[in-house]
Parts: sequence; C-alpha cells; structure tokens
Amino acid sequence: MANVNFPRDPNTLSNYHNWRCTHITANFDVLFHEKKLVGSVTQTFRSATNGESQEILLDSNHVDIRSVNLNGRPLYWELLPPSEPYGRALKIKLDRCVKENETIDIEITLQTTEKCTALQWLTPAQTSNKRHPYMFSQCQAIHARSIFPCQDTPDVKSTIDFNISSPLPVIASGLPVRNSLETPLPSAMTLYRFHQRVPIPSYLFALASGDITEAVIGPRSVVATSPDKLGECQWELEADTEKFIEAIEEIVYPYAWGKYNVLILPPSFPYGGMENPIFTFATPSIISKDRENIDVIAHELAHSWSGNLVTNASWEHFWLNEGWTTYLERRILAAVHGESYRHFSALIGWKALTDSVEHFGHDHEFTKLVTDLKGKDPDDAFSSIPYEKGFNFLFHLENLVGKHKFDQFIPHYFTQFKEKSLDSYEFKATILEFFQSDMEASKLLNELDWDRWFYAPGLPPKPDFDTSLVDVVYSLSRKWKAMPGSPFKPDSSDIKDLTANQIIVFLEQVLLFEEPLTPELSRLMGEVYGLARSENIEVANLYFQVGLKAGDNGVIEPTTQLLGRIGRMKFVRPLYRSLQKVNRPVAVETFEQNKAFYHPICRAMVEKDLFGKKDA
Ligand code: BES
Ligand code: ZN
Repeated sequence: MANVNFPRDPNTLSNYHNWRCTHITANFDVLFHEKKLVGSVTQTFRSATNGESQEILLDSNHVDIRSVNLNGRPLYWELLPPSEPYGRALKIKLDRCVKENETIDIEITLQTTEKCTALQWLTPAQTSNKRHPYMFSQCQAIHARSIFPCQDTPDVKSTIDFNISSPLPVIASGLPVRNSLETPLPSAMTLYRFHQRVPIPSYLFALASGDITEAVIGPRSVVATSPDKLGECQWELEADTEKFIEAIEEIVYPYAWGKYNVLILPPSFPYGGMENPIFTFATPSIISKDRENIDVIAHELAHSWSGNLVTNASWEHFWLNEGWTTYLERRILAAVHGESYRHFSALIGWKALTDSVEHFGHDHEFTKLVTDLKGKDPDDAFSSIPYEKGFNFLFHLENLVGKHKFDQFIPHYFTQFKEKSLDSYEFKATILEFFQSDMEASKLLNELDWDRWFYAPGLPPKPDFDTSLVDVVYSLSRKWKAMPGSPFKPDSSDIKDLTANQIIVFLEQVLLFEEPLTPELSRLMGEVYGLARSENIEVANLYFQVGLKAGDNGVIEPTTQLLGRIGRMKFVRPLYRSLQKVNRPVAVETFEQNKAFYHPICRAMVEKDLFGKKDA
C-alpha cells in the first residue's frame, strides 16, 4: 500500500492527479533593466480522467499572468484567493472534455514580478568584476511557481525546451541545442536554446545569465563563472570532478545526463550547491584554494541519481533525496580518499545532526525522518536532519544486510525508480521485496522497527564510526579545554599536519565546551593558528563562532564583514543568531546594510531568525 495520504504532496495547490504535465517549452526574454523575465510558457498536459476534469489548477505565486490560450484561442482563467505559504492557484477552465490520455497544449503569457522569490537580479556592482548585471534562479523547494504557473510538485516530471533571449550568456538545466545555439537577434539580444530530454520536476528548472565564461575541468565537464575567477575555479575542480563521476558510476550506474558541469555563482547564492541537471549551481565559498570543500561537488553530482533521476514524491520524504545523496556522496569520498574519510565525513554530519535536533527541540516534527508538512513551508523545515538521519538510516541498512548485499540493492533501487518519484513506503516495499529470497537479510529487514525510523523524533542510535581522522583533533581540543592553568603552549605546529576539514572538527569541538574560552584564549587561538585570515571560509566562519561565544569583541568587525561578503545561508543564519546574542544592534544594523545583497530566500529566513515571524 503506497499512498496513505492523497494527494501525496500537500505543498501544491495543483490538481496534478487529474492532469499531468509532460512537456514544458519556456520562452523568455531576460530584461535586466526591468529585473524580470517576460515571455510565454507552453505546457503539455495529459488527462488522467475521461473528461471528468474540465479545469486545470496550477501553482502560482506573484506571477503577472497576461493570457491563457489553447490552440491559439483564449481560455477563461482566474487566480483563486491566496493560500499561504503556497501562493494562489491559477484556475483554467477548458471549453471541452478531454479524454483519458489525450494531451492538450496550454500557452500562458506572463511576466515575473519583483516579488518573485526564485530569482535574484544583481546589479553590476554586486558581481565579481562589476561590469555586467547578473540573474539566477533557485527553485527548490517551491519557488518555481514564482517564475511561471506550473504543477510545482516533485511528483510530476516533464521534459523541457528552453528558448531564452538575453544580452549576456545563458545557462539552463538542459543540454545546449548546438546547431541553433546563440542566434543573434536584431535587438542586441541573443537566443540561447537548451533541451532537457530526461523528464524532471519543476524544482530543477534553472536559469542563469551574466558575464559567464567556461573552462574544461574534465572529459565531460566544464566550470562556468565570471572571467576574472575562471582560473581559480578551474584549478579547484579539475583534479577531482571526473574521479568523482567515475567512482559513482561504479556504485550506481552510468551517468544519464550527458554533460556534468558546474556554475560558480556570485557570493549571494544562498546554498552551498544546487543540483540543477547538467549544471550544478554552487557558491563561490567552495573555491577555497585548497580543494578541501569540493565534497559539495561530490554531493551535487550524486543528486544526478538520487533526486534528479529518482525523486522524492513530496518534501515530506525529502530524506529520499538528501539522505540518499549524503550516503552516495560519502561512498564517492570513500572510493577516492579511503573508507576512513567516509567515517570522518559521517562524524562531521553527526555533529550537524545533533545541532539541528538541539535547534528544533528533541520532540519537534521536523526532527522526524518523514515529516508532516501540511500547511507548512518546506523552507522552514530545511535542516541537516533529512541529510544526516537519512544517511544514518541507509548506513544502518547497509550494516544490517551487509555491505556486499547492500551494494547490489543500490543499482536495483535506482533502476526501479529511474525517471519516477517515490515515497518512503515505496522505498520500504522495494528493499523488502529485493531481499525476499534472502532468508537472513529478509528476517532482519522485517524485524526492523520501520515506524521508529520514520516517525520517531530526535536522534537515531549513534553508530560506531571509525575515529582515526578525528582522534588527533579531539586530543588537541582537550588541551585547549584544560586551559588556562595547564602547561600547554599553543604553537602553529599543532595544526600543521591537519587538513582544513580537521581544523573544522577541532573548532566544532571547541564550540562544544561547556565553559566557553576566555576572550584572551580565543584571540590567542586565532592568532597562533591564523584562523581569522583563513581563505577557507568554513574555517573563518567557525572561528568567528568561537570568538563570539567567548565574548571576544575583536571578532565582531570581521564577522560583519563576512556577512557582507557571502550570502550562503549555512554561514549567514547561524552567524546572525550568534551575533545578535552578543550585540543585537550590530546584528540588526548589519542585516539592514546587507539585505539588498542577500537572495530573497536568505533575506526572508534571516528576517524570521532576527525579527520573529517564526511559523516553524
Ligand atoms: N538540494 C540541496 C539544496 C537545497 C535544499 C536547496 C533544499 C533548496 C531547498 C543541495 O543538494 C544541498 O544539499 N546543498 C548543501 C551542500 C551539501 C554538501 C550538504 C548546501 O547547500 O549546503
Ligand atoms: Zn543535496
């Protein structure tokens, strides 16, 4: 029995069980001066009823709709009253019955508005070389509906044609249509065309346009970014990208999308990475000049299987996307750097998991693996929990049946649900069925407390991770814990053999001390280890957290500077929370100064963090 709930996605207002979008053609002009997309979107809908449904309901949020046509004839349409946080449903009335499986093409002409939450428009001053404007999209989880009316649910997948005209180069989540690429138009605009032949959900619709150039980073990969940053981005990624692809192809099956490219965005990109097909979008903060933050690339690449081919049917089952991806990311890391690195990464993840559970509270709905998101905004539920509880669940299953057997299940699962969406109940049914004829595995799987894993809030049981890469770090942190009043004399040689990620674990341990460091010790640590000056923003970020917790006023200034330099929510949200504890006026003032720089999603989340309006 799959669907206990119907419809199974509570975060869409569309009637996607009556109609299924199978293809989208998006024709847009990128108007930088007006900060909007203007154009039309044609969607093919297949009827799932035999003429019973004469209206199509689509998700929309702050889109300026001009007309709705069927075969060139206007149709009656209206926007229903708002149903927050989901926007307003667009109701389209058909003038005839449509038989089961018959398709119709609906064309909507529209413009985006300044309230569009999916797009950020940057002025030249906000970009790296300050010469041209820039725009990019971020549709996950439910922001595609602010670009065009659609069935904005991961339970529906369609192929896509992109026809995008812009004065600047364009990137989209499809393969370029080579023979017609870059058709110059009379208006100083150029037409860029892309095709996505694999059906994808709306949240993977992606566009970017700006002063972007490309460099090769592997046999099937390029990195794209601002010309002045191209060399450093290429260096950061060229050593590992193809290694990662080959590693995961061994674990699952060959890469299905043709090219795997990475776009390094301006610093206001609100996430570490976003797995847009063909082109992963990534924050410039992974370009740390030490190749130490490209775990993010292993992660986004892994989404090419978990998430992009095999997709969670709703955001309530988000662990199927992120937990699986975290699991595969760590399998890639193990293949490239060794098994102990997988455990090292899992230990970092465990810390993030405990922090998130702490943040929400041990009984909170959002600490469950399968969450209830009825009436909720999936952005509010976002945390490390689906990633790390999901990883721990899969790691538990791997250990339960044995790694060798679990390895056989992985390609089976990704074949069974290729180009489909599924929920946790289908996942359970699939693994039980796969091991049915294996008495031993099947007994263990049937005895497993599935409901506890799915619905118990709080932390899961902690596995025995291999601690070989963290032991040195724990011992160094114990020395600091004993200060002052111990003979330990900190010296730069303490950390000279540590990787940046080990320093991160060290700083996380320091943050766990019940007694914070004294301001003097915190400052000493920063100076002796060169932490505040680190090019690795993960290191600088955590050092500022240590300093803020220690009450070292000397870190306030560099913290506010960092908050004006990067818009990645992973850093921005916790830094504002800590800064406001130490000095709320400075936190508020820093936010006021930088809010135009932040992406609309980031701006909204920090506003919730600083000024309440918390519905989570
Ligand atoms: N798909 C997520 C980003 C996301 C999640 C965007 C939910 C919007 C809503 C992406 O794959 C991701 O997980 N990014 C991580 C990096 C990763 C290494 C954990 C991030 O942004 O930090
Ligand atoms: Zn992810």
